[in-house]
Amino acid sequence: MQSKRMIPKNILRFDVVDSTNDKAKELLDRDIQEGTVVLADRQAAGRGRYGRAWASPPGGLYFSILLTPKERNAQLLSLLSGLPVVRTLRGFGIEASLKWPNDVLVQGRKICGILCEGVYRHDVYWVIVGIGVNVTVDLRRLPQEIQETATSLKREMGKNVENEAVLSDLLREYNDFYATYTGRGAEHLLTEYRGLCATLGKAVVIQTAKSKISGSAIDISPAGALVLDSGGKRMEIFEGTLIRSA
Ligand code: BTN
Repeated sequence: MQSKRMIPKNILRFDVVDSTNDKAKELLDRDIQEGTVVLADRQAAGRGRYGRAWASPPGGLYFSILLTPKERNAQLLSLLSGLPVVRTLRGFGIEASLKWPNDVLVQGRKICGILCEGVYRHDVYWVIVGIGVNVTVDLRRLPQEIQETATSLKREMGKNVENEAVLSDLLREYNDFYATYTGRGAEHLLTEYRGLCATLGKAVVIQTAKSKISGSAIDISPAGALVLDSGGKRMEIFEGTLIRSA
C-alpha cells in the first residue's frame, strides 16, 4: 500500500521476523523510502533497550518506522516518541503516562516499549523507531518476572481491540507528531512530554553505564536530558534506566 502521508509511506507486513528493527535495517540496503513501516505479527527475537529481550507473543503490535530526520539525534526523537503512543492510548480512553525515557505506563504497569536506533547507511542517517504495544497479548505468556508489571489494552479496557485499529491511530498520531518535530522543532513537544512524564517530581534512582545516581527528578532539559537534583547538585542524565522511583 502506498500513501500520500509521510507516515506510513507504505507498510511491509510479515507473519514473523526476528525483530522488526533488524528487518528494517536489512531493508536499508534496498531502495527504501522514508516513512516505510515494517510490521510483524510476531517476533522470534524482539529486542528491548540495552540488549534486553522483548517478549513478542501473538496479540501484540510490533513495528518499526524508518525515518531520516535532519537533526541527527536519535536520542531526542527516542525520548519524544512516547508522545504519539500516549496520545493514541488516551484516544482509547486509557490514562497512559510516560516513565523516563520512553516507557508507556498505565497505573505503573508497562503497556508499550520503544527502541530507537540511529544508523548510517550509504551516508544517510536513519532512525529506526521500534514500537511494541501489548494490545491483546495474553499477559501469562510474558516472562514470569514481568507479568505483574505489564498490562495490555485488553486488560485496561476489559475487551478485545483490533491491532489494526491501534496501528492506524498510532501511525496517524506519529505522522502528526513527526510533522511537528521536523517542522516546528522539539520545544512544544518537550512541554507536552513534561506534562505527561510521571517520573518528574519523584525521588528516583537511575542506573547509568557508570554508576547509580539518586536524586529528585526536577525537569527535562531542552536537549532531552533528565535533570536531577542530587544532594543539591544539578545533574543531567541522557542515558540510563530508571530502577526506582517514589
Ligand atoms: C524496551 O522497552 O526496552 C523497548 C522495547 C521495544 C520493542 C519493540 S517491538 C518492535 C521493535 N522491534 C524490536 O525488536 N524491538 C522494538
